[in-house]
Amino acid sequence: MKVPPSSLITFAVLLIQLSGASGGKILVFPLDGSHWINMKVLIEELHAKGHEVTVVRLSDSWYISEKSPLYTSVTIPSPGGFEQNYFEAFLFRQLEIRLQEPSISASEHATLPVEGDSYILQCNLTSAHSVHQESYWMKNGEEIPETRSPNRNTEYKLRKPKGDAAGWYMCVYTFEMAPPANATIEVKSAPDITGHKRSENKNEGQLAVLYCKSVGYPHPVWTWRKLDNGIPREIDNSSGRFFISSRDNYTELNIVNLDINVDPGEYHCNATNMLGSRDEMIVLRVRSYLAPLWPLLGVLAEIIILIVIIVVYEKRKKPDDLQDDDDPTGPVKTNSTNNHKDKNLRQRNTN
Ligand SMILES: *[C@@H]1O[C@H](CO)[C@@H](O)[C@H](O)[C@H]1NC(C)=O
Ligand SMILES: *[C@@H]1O[C@H](CO)[C@@H](O)[C@H](O)[C@H]1NC(C)=O
Ligand SMILES: *[C@@H]1O[C@H](CO)[C@@H](O)[C@H](O)[C@H]1NC(C)=O
Ligand SMILES: *[C@@H]1O[C@H](CO)[C@@H](O)[C@H](O)[C@H]1NC(C)=O
Ligand SMILES: *[C@@H]1O[C@H](CO)[C@@H](O)[C@H](O)[C@H]1NC(C)=O
Repeated sequence: MKVPPSSLITFAVLLIQLSGASGGKILVFPLDGSHWINMKVLIEELHAKGHEVTVVRLSDSWYISEKSPLYTSVTIPSPGGFEQNYFEAFLFRQLEIRLQEPSISASEHATLPVEGDSYILQCNLTSAHSVHQESYWMKNGEEIPETRSPNRNTEYKLRKPKGDAAGWYMCVYTFEMAPPANATIEVKSAPDITGHKRSENKNEGQLAVLYCKSVGYPHPVWTWRKLDNGIPREIDNSSGRFFISSRDNYTELNIVNLDINVDPGEYHCNATNMLGSRDEMIVLRVRSYLAPLWPLLGVLAEIIILIVIIVVYEKRKKPDDLQDDDDPTGPVKTNSTNNHKDKNLRQRNTN
């Protein structure tokens, strides 16, 4: 017996598994024709209520589109001219295959440091709904190059793992006919501050930028403190000039419009996660506005002092010279006529 199209149209399955009031998984199997129009209204409604809707569609379906923001679809081959019993069995088998989540057996989460000089992350694909294509590894959401392989069992080796090896790793399996499946392995470690500005030298009124970078996972919570009489204290932001921006493994403290009286000192960035905490110190020095002028002022002062010395010396030197010449014992030994000429000249000059 062939399945008449009319009986197909009446064959609409609605399986509802409500997991609480807010939202559940719903499997819808509408068949082409006018019923879909009504069903679509229903699906919109269900979607709006937060349900996850999966629509089963036949590969030759005209009305039901494969992609939609409202639902995810599962496409099964059209039964064509199958017998009804066979079609039902076929349908359930298809659904079973398509709806079964692939399962991956993955290594346990790890915490660094580990014993030995390497640590191996493993994933085994233990069951799958369809033929798998390949697998690869990701770290912190980015694909690790050269990890693609066609194997069902895959591993990634961490050599001499330190703080920077920490993060969330994921093995991803891709399939020919289904969306990729993945498993996550977390490798945790206490934070370590791997980079920071050691000191910042600025002029008053300028902007100071202090930063720290960390490795370790989970990403730390960052705090900034300032040393006050040897005790680290919360930064006093009553002037509203301190701005902190932290994201994951990086934190930055900006101090605008530097104040020479209150801002200089030792600042500490502190990175803390559930496994530990680290702290680094940054020295901030603030110079006065005039600081850049000091070398110039120094040169100017030197020039002025030199001029004063020269002038004073010149002033004192002239009367001394005259006295030497007037000394009566001096000119006695010299030729008297020459001496007279000299004296006449000098006297004329002084007049
Ligand atoms: C993956 O399979 C290998 C070989 O069968 C086995 O030694 C290993 O323990 C498995 N790993 C996990 C995480 O299941
Ligand atoms: C991993 O699987 C989850 C659902 O299990 C999915 O939402 C996510 O997009 C997948 N991630 C990747 C990178 O494939
Ligand atoms: C900090 O995280 C970003 C992305 O989140 C990454 O690109 C960078 O390499 C990380 N830096 C360190 C020092 O781990
Ligand atoms: C400091 O105060 C300013 C202005 O009120 C504010 O925008 C800024 O976020 C504050 N900074 C911190 C670290 O609280
Ligand atoms: C970082 O701050 C936390 C509390 O905020 C404190 O318990 C911890 O001792 C500090 N870490 C260091 C290394 O000073």
